[in-house]
Amino acid sequence: MIPQFDLSRQHEVIKTDLEAALRRVLRSGRFILGPEGEALEEEVATFCGARCAVGVGSGSDALKLTLQALGVGAGDEVITTTFSFVATATAILQVGARPVFVDIDAESLNLDPSQVAGAITPRTVAILAVHLFGLPAEMAALETIARRHGLLLVEDGAQAFGATYEDRRVGVLGDVACLSFYPTKPLGGSGDGGMVVTDRADLAERVRRLRHHGSDDRYHHVELGWNSRLDELQAAFLRVKLPHVDRWVRARRRVAARYTSLLAGLPLSVPGDRLPARHVYHQFTIRSPERDGLAKHLQSRGIGTALHYPVPLPAQPILRARGYSAEPFVHAWAAAQTVLSLPCFPELSDEEVETVAAGIHDFYREEH
Ligand SMILES: Cc1ncc(COP(=O)(O)O)c(C=O)c1O
Repeated sequence: MIPQFDLSRQHEVIKTDLEAALRRVLRSGRFILGPEGEALEEEVATFCGARCAVGVGSGSDALKLTLQALGVGAGDEVITTTFSFVATATAILQVGARPVFVDIDAESLNLDPSQVAGAITPRTVAILAVHLFGLPAEMAALETIARRHGLLLVEDGAQAFGATYEDRRVGVLGDVACLSFYPTKPLGGSGDGGMVVTDRADLAERVRRLRHHGSDDRYHHVELGWNSRLDELQAAFLRVKLPHVDRWVRARRRVAARYTSLLAGLPLSVPGDRLPARHVYHQFTIRSPERDGLAKHLQSRGIGTALHYPVPLPAQPILRARGYSAEPFVHAWAAAQTVLSLPCFPELSDEEVETVAAGIHDFYREEH
């Protein structure tokens, strides 16, 4: 049995440190907004090369609070990708703004910058770029467009912690970045968590207020906010894991390189760097027209796969009900019908990668 993802192997290696972190927090009696969270914010800001970081309850909340803190709201339009996890789009809806979808680049599966300018209207206030599967979006082109039109540039870095673009980390590639610490992410907690990373102190301050019921002082509430804080236990676990992230990224890259060489010559496409964007392989998502048959074949051999994502965002019922249609977005549709995420995590062994690749070769031999 080769799982598509497995955290237990990682936990086995660092369990002594995780258990010490757990004991430390339990002993402290501080569970919400305390020293662990503050330390993690500093450590993540330093890791990303940013001035500020603010812990929040989830990646979804990082997006929602960021947009709200930027003043995005009713009547505003935010340009984003057609192909992502649903939270990218729902955060825009939740602050009362309108997502304006742009098709993806057929190879990177990220927002296609050449289509962004055509989607700008007088109501456009921001571009929300997703670094899908761990590959940073084409930030140089997006930044040029954003600057030319006076738009905010927001990173949805939920899947790409540790990834780089021109040697700068995700987190400092736009005005502000939103991170997720969902357990499967490149830096994942043992529950929900997220963070907002930015050089703008004013923005960080506003997110700090919004995450804590809009308060600027104890029991003094100056704007309508939320309860969305990263708890001390998650922060302590994440502090154990953060120093390992670069090593885990290197391990994921080794897995990806091995797949790439073992799958060469087959009628499928594999992900890779698109310099200056360097991939961290949060997912190793191949594309194959025979995707469904291949997934079934691998499953019959005890190999787990996952489908990220079966439908483009505008085709989700929640968006169709708001008058959206995915029909014009041909690359997003093609991706939705062909993507398949193979097992990919830092502790996956060479032997397991070879078994997965052999299973894929067998499938194509039987098919053709
Ligand atoms: C691209 C993207 N954005 C946002 C999110 C939301 O993060 P969370 O699950 O922490 O709320 C995710 C998480 O799955 C994601 O993949």
